[in-house]
Amino acid sequence: MKHLLSLALIVFVAFSAHAAEVGRQFIRIATEATDLILSTAPNGRLYQVYLGPKLLHEEDFGHFSPYTRRGSDSSAATRGWEAYMTAGMEDYFEPALQVTHADGNMSSLLKYASSQTNQIDENVTETIVTLKDDAYPLEVKLHYVAYARENIIKTWSEIVHQEKKPVLLHRYASGIIYFERPSYYLTEFSGDWAQEMQMNHQQLQFGKKMIDTKLGSRAAMHAYPFFELGFGQPAEESRGEVVMGTIGWTGNYRFTFEVDNLKNLRVLAGINPFASTYELQPGEVFTTPEFIFTRSDEGKGQASRNFHDWARNYQLKDGNGDRLTLLNNWENTAFTFDEKILGELMKEAKHLGVDMFLLDDGWFGNKYPRNNDRAGLGDWEAMESKLPNGVPGLVRLAKEAGVKFGIWIEPEMVNPKSELMEKHPDWAIRLPNRETYYYRNQLVLDLSNPEVQDHVFGVVDKLMTENPEIAYFKWDCNSPITNVYSPYLKEKQNQLYVNHVRGVYNVFKRVKEKYPDLPMMLCSGGGARCDYEALKYFTEFWCSDNTDPVERLFIQWGFSQFFPTKAMCAHVTSWNKNTSIKFRVDVAMMCKLGFDIGLKELSDDELAYCQQAVSNYNRLKPVILEGDFFRLVSPYETNHTAVMHVSKAKDKALVYAYDIYPRFQEKTFAVRLQGLDPERMYKVEEINLMPGAKSRFAQNGQVFSGDYLMKVGLYALTPQTLQSRILEVTAQ
Ligand code: DGJ
Repeated sequence: MKHLLSLALIVFVAFSAHAAEVGRQFIRIATEATDLILSTAPNGRLYQVYLGPKLLHEEDFGHFSPYTRRGSDSSAATRGWEAYMTAGMEDYFEPALQVTHADGNMSSLLKYASSQTNQIDENVTETIVTLKDDAYPLEVKLHYVAYARENIIKTWSEIVHQEKKPVLLHRYASGIIYFERPSYYLTEFSGDWAQEMQMNHQQLQFGKKMIDTKLGSRAAMHAYPFFELGFGQPAEESRGEVVMGTIGWTGNYRFTFEVDNLKNLRVLAGINPFASTYELQPGEVFTTPEFIFTRSDEGKGQASRNFHDWARNYQLKDGNGDRLTLLNNWENTAFTFDEKILGELMKEAKHLGVDMFLLDDGWFGNKYPRNNDRAGLGDWEAMESKLPNGVPGLVRLAKEAGVKFGIWIEPEMVNPKSELMEKHPDWAIRLPNRETYYYRNQLVLDLSNPEVQDHVFGVVDKLMTENPEIAYFKWDCNSPITNVYSPYLKEKQNQLYVNHVRGVYNVFKRVKEKYPDLPMMLCSGGGARCDYEALKYFTEFWCSDNTDPVERLFIQWGFSQFFPTKAMCAHVTSWNKNTSIKFRVDVAMMCKLGFDIGLKELSDDELAYCQQAVSNYNRLKPVILEGDFFRLVSPYETNHTAVMHVSKAKDKALVYAYDIYPRFQEKTFAVRLQGLDPERMYKVEEINLMPGAKSRFAQNGQVFSGDYLMKVGLYALTPQTLQSRILEVTAQ
């Protein structure tokens, strides 16, 4: 979005003086539903005075005190919510900025200098506020981009100085927002490999709660870069005020939630400053990542839809484009395959009706063949023993089979047993003077080194140059940064975590610039890379290696809080064979559908069922990929779950209902739909039935008003174990 600035239609200076105080200025960052209001104070500094539902009358702004909120106690000190809180002054809680100046002074005090608002288009405005230290040539620019219809605000800052020598940045948050509410409840997302995005909530009490990661790459493996806030109670699905936020940084990030002595909450988001004191040279601009948040008065459901719309319209690579269904081979063959087997699988992909065959790990390495995860990573030449005709041979076979061809890479990593490591031992992040610790038998390449960036870009570029028909990449990243030492940065090790991620982005940018239409899946040993900065360069991401459909219902519930389902890859596999193929497919159908299963494992009926499901998916793609998503019944609260997609025109909807493990004779309940037109009539029909099976959904084929469906609902759940049904709802 930053580059769109140059396209700004109108540029004007956003000063407004509505207050009695002469010269007081308000900066209003507004979406259709939310106002974030900053105000200057007589001391020349800038404060957040409001973040909440949109205000009707600008005349009211003058009532806001820029200083401390203590109810009626107006004698309290002039200590307020500074827009970019600095360290070393009168606030004793978490600052956004902490600097050691060139002369050793550790305080900063920022005064308001100017602001301007650029109207990017009829929906988007960018406000840039300049703050200047009153004693040092240090400047901070706060950027706020407001997406009116989507009710999303994103903010980041730029820090620059002209001191004689470098200054040290100890803390450099992207942004800080404050709340004054009776109580605060945080929902966080934690997990591990195969347990992604597990949701938990807690009340925030006095002091700090941090969510952070120090994993470097594969950064979100334990803590996902998302949060939800409820006020007075945990965030609810369909009512109440909710704030949801995320940080676009594919490395160490940190959220800080601090309740202070006045019981006010501040939320800071940014790069994790852990082991990353940054030496900022005079004139160098330090740009922080984007802190992206939304606010809703109708619960998490609406806040999620804000994120979904914004992601499709502005952030995701090809956000409004189509997505390819596919057959992957990882769960089916792992490393054991050859050209003949792959050729057969491509024919199976065609038979199934999907668009593409995706070849996974294990296709490369000759001196050190990649027949397991202990060797070959880094040597991106096709393995002659498995693939005598190389990648071109596979592209040809796919063409003959009538499907597209996609390929897996993990170009940021290296096995010690590889030719790459033999040639460039200094390209890996590794301590020179300690025993090396390997995660999954591999090391992370040092992307702070421009030569390494060229190498990583070259992996994609060479494959594409030699095989322009490659239609898709799955880009994996299986190791955190271990043995933290960059041979390239030498004595500047404290810049490694930041510069490494910047290097990753340089590569992503080059790939996108050269191959703007190439769909790419972001993968990280499951779903450990899923932030909105990386997703500018990827069309979708792999949610989890856990494809047990029961587990997936929870994982997908979690990711859907922030992502449109078109970005969430879900594959049908053999995990949890206690579930029917129908259940497995029905769970994957709500996301970006794929398969990773040998068709020979399936009975004729099961195969016919899958083929019909793929064809339904293709027919219903406009609803699934572009529709509004509603979470109806939570798997965290019941032994069932249900969600739905509704087309923007409200003329078509899909309801997905799942019975997980209900108790014996447990009472079921009607599922109330959402998002329909109350005045329209809708026919409800069950789809995705096994061949020859009749629908056992009692209301099948009936016509209801949208009003009835939303107030009374459908008996789409049953007391049976591991059952699923998909209902197509069509306006008459
Ligand atoms: C981890 C990914 O999540 C899997 O899908 C698979 O691609 C393996 N890596 C391959 O090593």
